[in-house]
Amino acid sequence: MKVLITGAAGFIGSNLVHYVAKERPSWQITALDLLTYAGNLKNIADLVESGRVSFRKTDITDATAIDSLFEREKFDLVFHLAAESHVDRSIMSAREFVSTNVMGTQALLDASYKHKVGRFVHISTDEVYGSLGPTGAFVETTPLDPTSPYAASKAASDLMVLAFCKTHNFNASVTRCTNNYGFYHFPEKLIPLFITNAMEGKNLPLYGDGMNVRSWLFVTDHCDALLRVAEKGRAGEVYNIGGNSEAELTNKEVTRMILEILGKPADLVERVGDRPAHDRRYAVDTTKIKNELGWTPSTPFKEGLARTVAWYQENQEWWREIKSGAYLSYYEKNYASR
Ligand code: NAD
Ligand code: TYD
Repeated sequence: MKVLITGAAGFIGSNLVHYVAKERPSWQITALDLLTYAGNLKNIADLVESGRVSFRKTDITDATAIDSLFEREKFDLVFHLAAESHVDRSIMSAREFVSTNVMGTQALLDASYKHKVGRFVHISTDEVYGSLGPTGAFVETTPLDPTSPYAASKAASDLMVLAFCKTHNFNASVTRCTNNYGFYHFPEKLIPLFITNAMEGKNLPLYGDGMNVRSWLFVTDHCDALLRVAEKGRAGEVYNIGGNSEAELTNKEVTRMILEILGKPADLVERVGDRPAHDRRYAVDTTKIKNELGWTPSTPFKEGLARTVAWYQENQEWWREIKSGAYLSYYEKNYASR
């Protein structure tokens, strides 16, 4: 089995590379990534250096390069994770989100169809459904109602994948997952940002009233779901993936838990201006993936968060190197005006 994983040097992609390499020892894995600000080859360096995984630095929006890669390597299965992924950056500038998330996905679909890839898993997000009130959960048939340029670009790519299934009888599934957390998470997202800021004694910039709710999933549980969808999911279908109700928490609660694990004071929290169109609550109904593929999350949030904090304590070189240079200009731009 020849497998391509795009976005393989990013957060979820690198965790998936490790997961598939371990769970499917006979599979040949090609890891593709452009190594943008969010990609870090160190995340998979051990597997690349040992020869277990082949790495290709390629831009998914470069249709010619993608076509020749597919022609050469004859993949059986594609996990597509490469994307611009941060809501705040999409609010600052949407152009790259459309280019990478929509046009990049289309280039991969064209090459996959032309070169007869047997199975394609498109990794998407619950953010395509928009925002929930205090109760209820998104099901796979909930109408799409994205509120950020990031979510809109992901929704567009989902529709393109589903259209290929209908038009070309293409064998693809779309997954829509809630917020992930875990190792190798770029420190611009809530959990790794707050862990590392607290370790540095810096303020934790909590948006608005801090009462927005996210349903957190440990990244390895997400990888388990993705492998099941790849192997047993049905073509043309969408699968929601998400944490249990114990992992549905306000940002305030998550912040309190991080400070508690680190033994840091509550006055590090700084209330800052809200994100525009800040989705109030996300939650997904996971009945479909549970019934069809036997998947449920296995890592309780408290345990996963403690393991994640420990990882950031043990891997300070990894994140301290990231939190310099261009990262600081982004940080200044995003937070100075709040
Ligand atoms: P990430 O930003 O950590 O990683 C994205 C990777 O894509 C990076 O390594 C980057 O270098 C690469 N990339 C960007 N543009 C590229 C291009 N043009 N060509 C090739 N590679 C390119 O993101 P993540 O959090 O790991 O998310 C991965 C996927 O999962 C995304 O599609 C995202 O929409 C989806 N998702 C993420 C979450 C979450 O909580 N992080 C939840 C649900 C779905
Ligand atoms: P984030 O990690 O950016 O993921 P998403 O927007 O995709 O859900 O944000 C998670 C939640 O944390 C979201 O409600 C916004 C909030 N947040 C803050 O309060 N402060 C921050 O500095 C960041 C990055 C996020």
